[in-house]
Amino acid sequence: MNTNLDARTIVTGGGSGLGLRIAQVMREAGATVLVSDISDEALGAAVEDGFAVTVCDVSDEAQVRDMIATAAEQLGGLDVLVNNAGVAGPTGPVADLDSQEWRRTFDVNIHGQFYCIKHALPHLRRSSDARIINLSSAAGRLGMAGRSPYSASKWAVIGLTKTLAIELGPDGITVNAICPGAVDGPRIQAVIDAKAQMLDRPVEEVTALYHGQASLGRLVTADDVAQAALYLAGPGGRMISGQALAVDGNTEKLY
Ligand SMILES: NC(=O)c1ccc[n+]([C@@H]2O[C@H](COP(=O)([O-])OP(=O)(O)OC[C@H]3O[C@@H](n4cnc5c(N)ncnc54)[C@H](O)[C@@H]3O)[C@@H](O)[C@H]2O)c1
Repeated sequence: MNTNLDARTIVTGGGSGLGLRIAQVMREAGATVLVSDISDEALGAAVEDGFAVTVCDVSDEAQVRDMIATAAEQLGGLDVLVNNAGVAGPTGPVADLDSQEWRRTFDVNIHGQFYCIKHALPHLRRSSDARIINLSSAAGRLGMAGRSPYSASKWAVIGLTKTLAIELGPDGITVNAICPGAVDGPRIQAVIDAKAQMLDRPVEEVTALYHGQASLGRLVTADDVAQAALYLAGPGGRMISGQALAVDGNTEKLY
């Protein structure tokens, strides 16, 4: 594995969860990493861990433009963009969903990635070895009852990824998506609680379904996802582009 990743890197939504672990693993491998997240509060753990940070709501294009400019200046350029910021969105049958919550899910999960890529591109084009890594989900290649805005937004991430891999190939920029299955942590517990409420089933029963949905019979860890991101950012990923890499222990159905 890489031990000397000389890459100037931005991780969005990197204040917690997968993003923070990706930032840590990239830094351990030698990258210079700037972490952005929606608020000072959300960035608390990243600051404590010694990362350079910038506040940015990725759904706001003006904030994204400023964040990318600040990051490129602080890092002295840009080689890797990890589009990690995302929200779970509402849970429920489609007819009951609030339209504003639907739009918010898309604003963060797909429009946010578009803004970050658009404004990062001039800097990435100046890199000799640039990579874009977009966080999709197992719900970006399978349907997921009760989570239509999340699933649809994550399928959109794959469409964006595959299209940009073609468009940016001539610039030598690789573009890939990572599709994690259910990741152990507080976020998945909130998702399970909401699903149990929607189905009117005991939380323990829905938890067991989630734990059993991967063939490997366990939840994904943040480290599993971070190692995949590191591979795509490093020498091993040089000729990998346009891929939607499942990190889900082989998940064939989502509950
Ligand atoms: N946890 C899972 O089971 C799982 C599975 C598949 C895919 N994913 C995806 O991985 C990514 C990270 O998920 P996570 O589990 O670490 O979630 P998380 O909720 O722990 O972290 C998401 C981070 O994004 C930040 N964020 C939210 N809205 C933002 C905005 N508008 N602008 C900037 N930052 C914002 C949050 O503050 C938070 O720090 C997401 O894109 C998510 O959809 C997660």
